[in-house]
Amino acid sequence: MSIFASVTMAPGDPILGLTETYNADPRKEKVNLGVGIYVDEQGKVPVLDAVRQVEQALARDDQPRSYLPIDGLPAYNRATQNLLFGAGAAILEAGRVATAQTIGGSGALRVGADLLKKVLGDQAKLAISNPSWGNHHVVFRTAGFQLIDYRYYDDASHGLDFAGMLEDLGKLEPGTVVLLHACCHNPTGVDLDAAQWAQVVALLKDRGLLPFVDMAYQGFDRNSTDDALAIRLLADSGIPAFVVANSYSKSFSLYGERVGALSFVGADRDEAARLLSNIKTTIRANYSSPATHGGKLVAGVLDSAELRALWEQELGGMRGRIHTMRAAFVDKLAALGAPDFGFINRQAGMFSYSGLSKAQVDRLREEFAIYALSSGRICVAALNTGNIDYVTRAVAAVCR
Ligand SMILES: Cc1ncc(COP(=O)(O)O)c(C=O)c1O
Repeated sequence: MSIFASVTMAPGDPILGLTETYNADPRKEKVNLGVGIYVDEQGKVPVLDAVRQVEQALARDDQPRSYLPIDGLPAYNRATQNLLFGAGAAILEAGRVATAQTIGGSGALRVGADLLKKVLGDQAKLAISNPSWGNHHVVFRTAGFQLIDYRYYDDASHGLDFAGMLEDLGKLEPGTVVLLHACCHNPTGVDLDAAQWAQVVALLKDRGLLPFVDMAYQGFDRNSTDDALAIRLLADSGIPAFVVANSYSKSFSLYGERVGALSFVGADRDEAARLLSNIKTTIRANYSSPATHGGKLVAGVLDSAELRALWEQELGGMRGRIHTMRAAFVDKLAALGAPDFGFINRQAGMFSYSGLSKAQVDRLREEFAIYALSSGRICVAALNTGNIDYVTRAVAAVCR
């Protein structure tokens, strides 16, 4: 009898499970709107030219494959801080930010959650938008947090329930961690505007809450600076402590290289130094140190003025294509006499809560080989000029 005989099957990941079903579907016209990956007009994950140039330069040198420091490449961490807060930001000059390279944005969330649990102990509570990215719940619950939903998405308007959000945040106990999506909210595509961010930041400060910002899509809505607005507002707010997890998976199209970073902001330089030492012990206990290659690619691009400009341009290309596909989706559905989908143009980033019901999503899959999440979330980046007519005709058909 094996000692593992009592182990039961764990539930599969709903998003990855959908992709497995999609891959096995023999229908030629199939479209996968379920995944969270940016693909180009040809349906391929792009290799950015800025990244390729660094990669080629790295290949020309003999690159020793030693371990990185526990907190990663210093050049990567510096470049990350500049990208998040703006080069020369007062918070950086004051030495208040402790940043470590992590295994993707997911690694940043996990290390951040573990360290916060250590600091907050049994009282660790996380307030999380309803809905949020599924892995947020998994990571923070596994780290030992109690989760509290705050209102976010309004079904009726397909937009933000801002009054509900403020009311729920206003009831949280001081010291509660509040998870916020910096931009391109996953799964809804619904973001706060600048005035709403200012109000939320003021409330977080008043109530003594601990902001934890997750930025996985920097540059997918506006540009890398404007999409960091929430972080810049927090930096200037006088809030003494907050946390940022960021990812380069999407913005550099480096999904499998696992490039992310965790930044803890403390009240002063001394606090930041103590935080960094604890980030390092947390990483050491998890995976010891991050991976070299992706870190060198990102640092190589961000450290060169020329490649940085090229990257911004290529990021703009991805963003522009998403905006074009949103507009085409809305226009084509209107031309087909479908109910109004205009709200899709007001949502941001790769994802949209399309408002399609589970029954409509099931019909799309069964009758048209179009795959979306049962929540109605679609990845707009999976649309292209070759499939948009087919997809919009199918959506119009299931809305009839
Ligand atoms: C909201 C959000 N946070 C974090 C991540 C994690 O990113 P990474 O792939 O770098 O781990 C994702 C990825 O889909 C995401 O959507």
